[in-house]
Amino acid sequence: MDTSRDGGLMVGLCVTVTLLAMSSIGGEAALTTNFYDDSCPQIYSIVKAEVRKAVAKEARNAASMVRLHFHDCFVNGCDGSLLLDNTTDFTSEKYARANINSARAFDVIDSIKAALEAACPQTVSCADILAIASRDSAVEAGLVPHYPVFFGRRDSLTASIDAANAFLPSPNFTYAELKENFANVTLNELDLIALSGAHTIGRVKCLLIRLFSLKDNLQTNTGFRDFLNKTICPNGTQDQQPDGSFIVTDLDLRTPDKFDTNYYKNLRKGEGMIPSDQTLQDTRGINQAFVADFAFNPVNFFFQFAVSTIKMGNISPLEGDEGEIRLDCKKPNPTVSPRIAIQ
Ligand code: HEM
Ligand SMILES: *[C@@H]1O[C@H](CO)[C@@H](O)[C@H](O)[C@H]1NC(C)=O
Ligand SMILES: *[C@@H]1O[C@H](CO)[C@@H](O)[C@H](O)[C@H]1NC(C)=O
Ligand SMILES: *[C@@H]1O[C@H](CO)[C@@H](O)[C@H](O)[C@H]1NC(C)=O
Ligand SMILES: *[C@@H]1O[C@H](CO)[C@@H](O)[C@H](O)[C@H]1NC(C)=O
Ligand SMILES: *[C@@H]1O[C@H](CO)[C@@H](O)[C@H](O)[C@H]1NC(C)=O
Repeated sequence: MDTSRDGGLMVGLCVTVTLLAMSSIGGEAALTTNFYDDSCPQIYSIVKAEVRKAVAKEARNAASMVRLHFHDCFVNGCDGSLLLDNTTDFTSEKYARANINSARAFDVIDSIKAALEAACPQTVSCADILAIASRDSAVEAGLVPHYPVFFGRRDSLTASIDAANAFLPSPNFTYAELKENFANVTLNELDLIALSGAHTIGRVKCLLIRLFSLKDNLQTNTGFRDFLNKTICPNGTQDQQPDGSFIVTDLDLRTPDKFDTNYYKNLRKGEGMIPSDQTLQDTRGINQAFVADFAFNPVNFFFQFAVSTIKMGNISPLEGDEGEIRLDCKKPNPTVSPRIAIQ
């Protein structure tokens, strides 16, 4: 953690070297940074432009896209399964507990996909779009530097709502449960603390604040609990607007749309918005040292967020001739009809 006093250039170099080294771990086909260099070099400019447009339209879109990559990777690996809608064969992961009325910005992913299909048809997978859109979103919100994105994932032919319900963490998980949940996908405590820092941007439904942070005294800072109850999410009967949309508040009340270290500063004040946030500070252990380090050393947080995101992006991808390159992120490619297959 000595990088704190180095300049951004040094950190950028360090990120690149560390991550290139990471990619060579394990003998099998690995994701690479140059995967689209010949087939779709425009991927960088196209995704950046689409992300920039979407975030300018609504700042929250940055947070929503960072979360999509996470919710894709934790469920049978980073294979774009989260993006699939219902089919006759399976129910979409979009209806899983952690995603329903919550996961969003699918329309932005569709715009990115359309722009990429126009420039380089049938080339860029939806799973890879989630990885680069997540990076560009975090950067758009303030993350520095521009860490390298690894590519080569292919898209799943199916999705599993049961796996999404089993493997996406809940806001009332204890520290031990969070640790196990991350260990299940080869992520450690440092990854848990660093990736949770994504909650420095984005929104949470007041319904969940009342259900988890205000229920059962899971939020133990009574002053902050009163503030949440009376000022931030008042009126328990009004969780939804007349149009049916849910009332939300900020996950980082200080700088809601800025990717910075205030999430960790909030935790140290006992002001984590959801119990799974506050427990990262309240549980005794090495976690408290990580929280303290990230609270005061943005360079360390940004570096570790990049490293842990790359690691998360490596969770059992489909590669080579596995899966497919979806033409529409929302549905598996049409298969050859049986009648034609028989001929
Ligand atoms: C450690 C376990 C985690 C739990 C229990 C958790 C839980 C939650 C919950 C309950 C919300 C609010 C959802 C809603 O009210 O609709 C949320 C939002 C969010 N989460 Fe997490 N999360 C975790 C880790 C992560 C990780 C690892 C990332 C990304 C690296 C992430 C990124 C986000 C973002 C950006 C939002 C805001 C999304 C938006 O505004 O659309 N979370 N999370
Ligand atoms: C998808 O399936 C789920 C579960 O059966 C259902 O609740 C939902 O309404 C379906 N969505 C659409 C758009 O048909
Ligand atoms: C966490 O919340 C779920 C409801 O979403 C509930 O079924 C479960 O019992 C809760 N777990 C704990 C440890 O409170
Ligand atoms: C970890 O994985 C096991 C086996 O799939 C599962 O039963 C368990 O619920 C997972 N733990 C958490 C906390 O997600
Ligand atoms: C929230 O405020 C209401 C009304 O003032 C009160 O009845 C309730 O006990 C409060 N809940 C918590 C968890 O503080
Ligand atoms: C709570 O709801 C009531 C009735 O809808 C309204 O009069 C009151 O102003 C609301 N309080 C706050 C703090 O929003």
